Amino acid sequence: SQRKFFVGGNFKMNGSMKLIKEIVDQINAANLDGSTEVIVAPPALYLLQVQEMLKKPVEVSAQNCFTEVSGAFTGEISPNQLKDANVHWVILGHSERRSLFGDTDKLVADKVAAALKADLKIIACIGETLEEREKGVTMQVVERQLDAIAGEVKEADWKDIVIAYEPVWAIGTGKVATVEQAQEVHKDIRQWLSKRVSSAVAESTRIIYGGSVNAKNCGELAGPPDIDGFLVGGASLKPEFLDICKVQH
Ligand code: G3H
Repeated sequence: SQRKFFVGGNFKMNGSMKLIKEIVDQINAANLDGSTEVIVAPPALYLLQVQEMLKKPVEVSAQNCFTEVSGAFTGEISPNQLKDANVHWVILGHSERRSLFGDTDKLVADKVAAALKADLKIIACIGETLEEREKGVTMQVVERQLDAIAGEVKEADWKDIVIAYEPVWAIGTGKVATVEQAQEVHKDIRQWLSKRVSSAVAESTRIIYGGSVNAKNCGELAGPPDIDGFLVGGASLKPEFLDICKVQH
């Protein structure tokens, strides 16, 4: 496909100066050749340290940002500040932000709009809970989440968006989606993009899978035509992250 395979490592609220330095040393030593686009998202506190240490072409990403440029928003980081600090990527709409920190579809959409305005690239996360899957409303949920985001993205800006499909029941549980389950939703997302935006955007937008991806299951998951990479949580803190970055696709 014309889509470059993409692997993101989301450290979540894990790590320390020492551990993160070790992980970055390992990534640098792996001499990734750039055939897969690789980004790592450490906690905000470590972004600049990691950015300074990382060898190209690997880049850093923030795990979140706010909607405003600046102001009295204690504890938040603006997309413009990320841009100012040469951090080019941000993860938005992660299920942990949605379920624990009140990131509604509307807030995620507003963050997407602000991040695009600041010229950032976005890993936009969507996905259903186990209850929603069992009720048979997976695609309704995913489309509702996507529709909110798509309302803020001009056709020309889709090049700066990677969609991460992360079924909530697969995140941090060791219960990875089957290849068939993941491909089915990815294909539906691509069809939705084709209808809602354009066939060119559907064809060029990376749709990556997240949820209990590890070195053992990534080979199989990299197979189907609509899976364009991974967003890795737990395994991104371990040496096996590099096996995932190097997976054949
Ligand atoms: O952002 C990453 C996802 O939440 C997946 O996390 O690989 O630990 O299941 P996990």
